[in-house]
Amino acid sequence: MNQISTQTPKATLQKRRKKFADSMDENSAALFLSAEVHHRNSDVEHKFRQDSSFWYLTGFNEPDSALLIVKTKKETVNYIFSRPRDKEKEIWTGKIAGPERAKEITGVDKCFEFKDLDGQLEKLLTGLSRLYFEFSLANYHFLRNKILETAKHRRIQRITSTQNLIGELRLFKEPFEIQQMKQAAKISAEAHKLAMQRAKPGKHECTLEGIIEGHFCLCGAGWAYPSIVASGANATILHYTANDQELKKGDLLLVDAGSEYNYYASDITRTFPIGGPVGGKFSKAQKQAYELVLSAQKDAIAQCYKKEVTFESVHEAAVKVLCEGLLDLGLLKGKLSDNIKNKTFRKFYMHKTSHWLGLDVHDVGSYVEPQDSKRVSKTASAKTDTSRILRPGMVITVEPGLYFDPEDTNIPKEFRGIGVRIEDDVLITKTGAEILTSACPKEVDELEEILGL
Ligand code: GLY
Ligand code: MN
Ligand code: MN
Repeated sequence: MNQISTQTPKATLQKRRKKFADSMDENSAALFLSAEVHHRNSDVEHKFRQDSSFWYLTGFNEPDSALLIVKTKKETVNYIFSRPRDKEKEIWTGKIAGPERAKEITGVDKCFEFKDLDGQLEKLLTGLSRLYFEFSLANYHFLRNKILETAKHRRIQRITSTQNLIGELRLFKEPFEIQQMKQAAKISAEAHKLAMQRAKPGKHECTLEGIIEGHFCLCGAGWAYPSIVASGANATILHYTANDQELKKGDLLLVDAGSEYNYYASDITRTFPIGGPVGGKFSKAQKQAYELVLSAQKDAIAQCYKKEVTFESVHEAAVKVLCEGLLDLGLLKGKLSDNIKNKTFRKFYMHKTSHWLGLDVHDVGSYVEPQDSKRVSKTASAKTDTSRILRPGMVITVEPGLYFDPEDTNIPKEFRGIGVRIEDDVLITKTGAEILTSACPKEVDELEEILGL
């Protein structure tokens, strides 16, 4: 990640931690670990990217760090654990803040060295009844097991994931967060336009990947997820990232790429015919698929402007339009209601229409109303739960698609190998909604103009 990041104001961090602590039980502690450094091979490290929840609550960008919030009847105390200053190490990998400076940056009450975490937990968890800790973390395996043992040893009765509580906070974006997301969206829209202008037969998918990610870098951003640059039938592979094929005249190109700006993600997909001077226009089948997805996306986005609609209704709107269109094209048979009920469309549309967007591209936050989320974890049945009502401050993607298996001999030849997805990022506002990615063209005539067709 090559992004420029700005320090989150201490007062903002303190406010977030206070909100989090308010949602904790009395007599409990919450522990958040930083991300860990991962090795790519031998002694080469992957670029470090801080854990999103840890960043949200601390604004501290170092590995081997932890935040502990201890809430008793009397008081709430915040502790930061971080690496000690180490001149020798700093020569190789850069400045280390050290616990005292970490305390200043984060505005917490007390600080310790990271190596003392387990020992301090032995003391600080004494007498508490609950620990909030993300035990499903992929990071710090050894330490994680030790923490769980310590909690058991200190007779903590309940260990609960932090996910529900932190998800509830991160789901509603503050004005500062929205600013960052708008900037991420703007940079991504520009990068997609560049890719459209440069997508010519004979080039390779990875050339466009470079153009897109190069633009992210030029803008002080990084990528929010590895870019998908999928030409022809590669577009029917949902998580295609090989990006190594040559662009061919007559094929469509699906680009799913989003920048991460100051830790905040954007997520855009556009699909278009590979451009001139020797490129072709949309074929008839390509255009039919494209216009169908576009119209499904527009209906789904229109849902977001309505008051108090559910997350699920956005998906339902997209599914309805797609099913109607697939029936018209003869690609589905029978009654609309039966196709929707029996999910026959899943052969061509196998993913959901939306996800939350924020610090993570697939951001945290419950997809059912909070009063239902406790019941879900007990019964593991989401069927009767109320889908989350969309409220101001939430950001979702709207990304319907159609994917026709290149080997499916049950569909007309002209549809085989077509993959189309159109994805925008939508902020729910007090008065409706705002499409953060609207600067990225998607109308057929806009695309044809930019592609020089
Ligand atoms: N780019 C990941 C997604 O669209 O969900
Ligand atoms: Mn997405
Ligand atoms: Mn995407």
